[in-house]
Amino acid sequence: MESFDNLNEQALNHLFVGMSNTNDLSMEGGPTILKEGKGIYVWDQEGNKYLDGISGMYFRNIGYGREQVAKEIYKQLSKVSMNMYSAVTESTIRLSKKLSDLTPGNLTKTFFSSGGSEANETSLKMSQAFHNRQGNKGKYKVISRKGSYHGGTFGTMWLGSHPFLPRDEYQPVPLNVLHAPNPNPYRYEEIGANSEEECGEKAARAIEDLILFHNPDSISAVIGEPVAQPLGGVVPPLNYWPLVKDICEKYDVLLIFDEIITGFGRLGEWFGADLVNVTPDIMSVAKGMTSGYFPLGASIASLKIAKAFDGDKENSFKHMFTYSGHPGGTSAALKNIEILENEKLVFNAKIRGEQLKKGLNELKNKSKIIGDVRGVGLLQGLEFVKDKKSKESFPLEAKLGKKITEGLKKRGVWIKVSDYILPIAPPLIISSSEISDFLLILEETLKEVEKEVLL
Ligand SMILES: Cc1ncc(COP(=O)(O)O)c(C=O)c1O
Repeated sequence: MESFDNLNEQALNHLFVGMSNTNDLSMEGGPTILKEGKGIYVWDQEGNKYLDGISGMYFRNIGYGREQVAKEIYKQLSKVSMNMYSAVTESTIRLSKKLSDLTPGNLTKTFFSSGGSEANETSLKMSQAFHNRQGNKGKYKVISRKGSYHGGTFGTMWLGSHPFLPRDEYQPVPLNVLHAPNPNPYRYEEIGANSEEECGEKAARAIEDLILFHNPDSISAVIGEPVAQPLGGVVPPLNYWPLVKDICEKYDVLLIFDEIITGFGRLGEWFGADLVNVTPDIMSVAKGMTSGYFPLGASIASLKIAKAFDGDKENSFKHMFTYSGHPGGTSAALKNIEILENEKLVFNAKIRGEQLKKGLNELKNKSKIIGDVRGVGLLQGLEFVKDKKSKESFPLEAKLGKKITEGLKKRGVWIKVSDYILPIAPPLIISSSEISDFLLILEETLKEVEKEVLL
């Protein structure tokens, strides 16, 4: 019998628990300790069962408890536990070919890493090195969008601007990062637009303005999530990404899609690139590639980029991570992708997403505080407002996020809600009745919280 004696105390004394503070953790007696998972549910050490409404952290696409994946990892690690300097294993090669087949356009050659931040770091280095190979040594600046998130490393944290991860302790801002607006159809007037279409146009032109202001000869790449999670799954206006792609091509700037959340079926398409109908020059992926069964990330380069690194030592892509292409991770990814394919989970994400969207829109009509329902597939979100007309957000003192998080938790749903965004991203295996159950719990929770905050 497992014993959880003193584990909470040990955690409080010895463990930094990500995205938590010690006061809250102490009040709760320590972090929730997960004991078991099956399907879309997870149980904690006290036997409480939760529907995992955010797939761990947007990665558990095939759900919990898949023994086939664990067995593949075991089989691989029992034979060869890791690649060697300049030597690789079969699953690592097979996964690179599989990624080339699955991704759109001519995305073709992969550099593996251990997670999302490393994948984005790799994609950025690859962009700059590509320009160098073309003889353009001055192209080093990167344009990202406000309100996006691309990682926690010193380099990637400055891309985008996650509202809940302020970076003021980690100065100075690198001079090579420029920030453009993130088009949000719900708040198009904030960018001076009169329609969604104009919002897409203006946000894309803001990228062009930055390129021109800083001189195209200094710009290496634009990086963005096709659908941005930190803002609750904002789907940009349809004209936005095609226009950004045209602008990038015009000024010889590479387009990097951060598909770390959006990849592997979450949007009801294999990749966000399929949804927005634009193929980037480089795609960063991680999370759903293994559904969290093993840490793995990847940067997938288009043929044009890959070719630039062909040739002798001088021309090669000079970059490495010790655990690049870990065979445990690549075996897990191959099995994970097989499951996604065999169980048609990408299609499930699409139809369950439609069901969810319909239910959320019905909730919005009944609620005084849901300003917007957004997202697609199984990456959706609600934005809360104090007043639907003015779209004013609740003040922090209302503690709206905490109240909704606790209300959901006591009813058996695990979602961390911020003060104005409720993200919804369950595993792609979720069934129709489970979506209905979730919607009922959400409705009950919001009714209770609404009464409190609108007093
Ligand atoms: C869009 C996006 N990019 C990058 C990252 C960083 O990935 P990791 O935490 O695996 O380094 C995340 C993590 O949440 C993410 O959501």
